[in-house]
Amino acid sequence: MSMEFQPDIERQIAFDFLRATEIAALNTLQWLGKGEKELADEAACDAIRGMFDLTDMCGEVAIGEGIKDDAPGLFKGEKVGTWRPGAPRFEIALDPIDGTTNVAKGMPNSLSCIAAAQVNGESGPCLLDIPAFYMKKLAYPLAVRKAWLADPKLPIDIDAPVSEVIDVTAKILGKDVRDVLVCALDRPRNQQLIEEIRRKGAALRLIQDGDIAAALAPAMRTSDIDLYVGIGGAPEAVVSAAGLRCLGGGMRAKIWPRDEAERQSLIKMGWGDRIDKQFMSRDLARGENLIFTATGISTSPLVQGVSVRGSIATTHSLLMRAKSGTVRFVESHHDLDRKTIHLRSTQAERRI
Ligand code: FBP
Repeated sequence: MSMEFQPDIERQIAFDFLRATEIAALNTLQWLGKGEKELADEAACDAIRGMFDLTDMCGEVAIGEGIKDDAPGLFKGEKVGTWRPGAPRFEIALDPIDGTTNVAKGMPNSLSCIAAAQVNGESGPCLLDIPAFYMKKLAYPLAVRKAWLADPKLPIDIDAPVSEVIDVTAKILGKDVRDVLVCALDRPRNQQLIEEIRRKGAALRLIQDGDIAAALAPAMRTSDIDLYVGIGGAPEAVVSAAGLRCLGGGMRAKIWPRDEAERQSLIKMGWGDRIDKQFMSRDLARGENLIFTATGISTSPLVQGVSVRGSIATTHSLLMRAKSGTVRFVESHHDLDRKTIHLRSTQAERRI
């Protein structure tokens, strides 16, 4: 009896997602340092849409540009891919540029990333679209997640004082408190937390923007960051959760309504019972069929940015899947004298 060959679609399509973030990064490079946030975002989106036009899938954007961003992004509900009958279905959460301000200023820490979940049997969405601006986040390495699984009483908790989280992390990682490296977004709303970390005596690194790279960093073997804490974008929390599910690290997150009006609007939208819920990475990015890819635009703790020498542009990307747990670092050398990319705006292959 012959067995019918069943190709693993995810394995193949993952490389198309990688191509999408690669060309988004390449197409954004022209805007690095030019002070044009929107044009940079437009260039990244155009490239991603163009690559999706060539991707044999029925894709639907589950999380696109956040509600707080008035950007020319890909938005929730947008259909992407060929939509050929029989093509695999994917939910997609993406951030064509995380760190748009950093791109506009030519600063480090910007990347293009896509998280995708193959739709096959999970009831309800796999990538949770949270209708809030911000979430309070705590991201940590695999060792910390394992320790908590073994002893759920450990204070690895979004509501635990950060000093306790640092203490327990130091113990688990076998470090002195002063060597526990904590990263946070430099925002007034994080000020109290920042002061607590300083009082505790842990090492602190503040970032201006781009907290997807920061949230993934604790789970990366190549990064020195041990914890990511603080309040950042809600869509970025879900994209980060998908990445962490692939890496094996963990994240807790809780909606952080900016004011009473936002709290009330969440309640009106039927989110009242989840405003104070502690979401785990598995709640934000569900199932095992997750793919995550990111390409650096400018250098972050995750991946290096694009560099150009002569006619060769080098991109650095991360490609991973939750099912296999394989973390691929992909360095690609693009020959700009030959390479063409397919943009949505031109519907044609063109030189970068
Ligand atoms: P954009 O690239 O979409 O501007 O997001 C950058 C970012 O720093 C995110 O990484 C972070 O989650 C969010 O903005 C924080 O929001 P805010 O800038 O409003 O504090």
